[in-house]
Amino acid sequence: MSSDKPKILVTGGAGYIGSHAVLALEAAGYPVVILDSLEYGHAELVQQHLQAELIQGKTTDRPLLDQIFQTHSIGAVMHFAAYIAVGESVEKPAEYYHNNVVGTLTLLEAMLAAGVQQFVFSSTCAIYGPPKTVPIPEDHPKNPISPYASSKLMVEEMLKDFSAAYGLNAVVFRYFNAAGADPEGRLGEDHQPETHLIPLVLQAALGRRENIAIFGTDYDTPDGTCIRDYIHVADLASAHVLGVEYLMKGGETTFINLGNGNGFSVREVIETARQVTGEAIVAVERDRRPGDPPRLIGSSEQAHHILGWQPQYPDLESIIAHAWQWHLYRHGRV
Ligand code: UFG
Repeated sequence: MSSDKPKILVTGGAGYIGSHAVLALEAAGYPVVILDSLEYGHAELVQQHLQAELIQGKTTDRPLLDQIFQTHSIGAVMHFAAYIAVGESVEKPAEYYHNNVVGTLTLLEAMLAAGVQQFVFSSTCAIYGPPKTVPIPEDHPKNPISPYASSKLMVEEMLKDFSAAYGLNAVVFRYFNAAGADPEGRLGEDHQPETHLIPLVLQAALGRRENIAIFGTDYDTPDGTCIRDYIHVADLASAHVLGVEYLMKGGETTFINLGNGNGFSVREVIETARQVTGEAIVAVERDRRPGDPPRLIGSSEQAHHILGWQPQYPDLESIIAHAWQWHLYRHGRV
């Protein structure tokens, strides 16, 4: 495919958020090369629905990175590849720091050697820790309480230093709860094992699990269950395209929350899923899950202000309806 737009290297482009970003980049006319270890990514989805070349490998592999930068004329890098399971990171911190921190450092060094100066990074609202103010602004104090969150904050600190010393500019996106699926049904969420609320609720709707557990019903929230800011993965993806374009116009390193600015409780998610799917979905009340803050909602003012970003699907119904369409397709029900 010939294009007058620069080629983007997308690490983790066979994963959930990365693959949706590739879809959005390709729709906007950018050629893409994907680097993905395929430990968790899905090669067949890349082959079926994306134009991008898929290279299997890890960001800790410096010779491979050098070869990619030599073979392809890369204009910017979007870095999604990371281990993401908060609980697992507590059990296996070495793996998380190695993959998420050493892997990113290796990637940044390879970029510097190749003269690539534009970087879009997937960070997380988990770096804030239990919030002192809600909605959470970007300058909220940082207090990561898991190795996963610490690994992301360490990279953020590296990016500040790399920006000052080497002029490598980054847009850092701090995601709230990514959810939903491609509105056209091509891509969606398929983690093994799955820990996230919406896909687990939909598994219960499909009869692939008996029920959905509600972790904690005694929180200081209107219905006693935790509130999260669910953001449609297609809206995350569109922000990434705007982020890379901001850097191409000379934008400097910046840190931006990506959330809807709206919160929904666990009970609201389950009830909306009942309406969308028409299935009964049995919910069982369980103890709190350790480490869950009661309320996480992001201020998205900076995303509007700096990037002109607006979510296209801020409502829970669309998020769950698109995820449901994907689950039906993925499990052969349509
Ligand atoms: N929940 C349940 N039952 C389940 C699964 C989840 O009640 O079976 C609840 C959780 O307790 C939480 C809410 O649903 O209150 C959302 O849980 P998720 O696991 O879907 O998402 P988290 O908010 O825990 O995690 C997200 C991202 C992480 C990120 C974290 C920051 O997935 O990558 O936010 O706090 F680190």
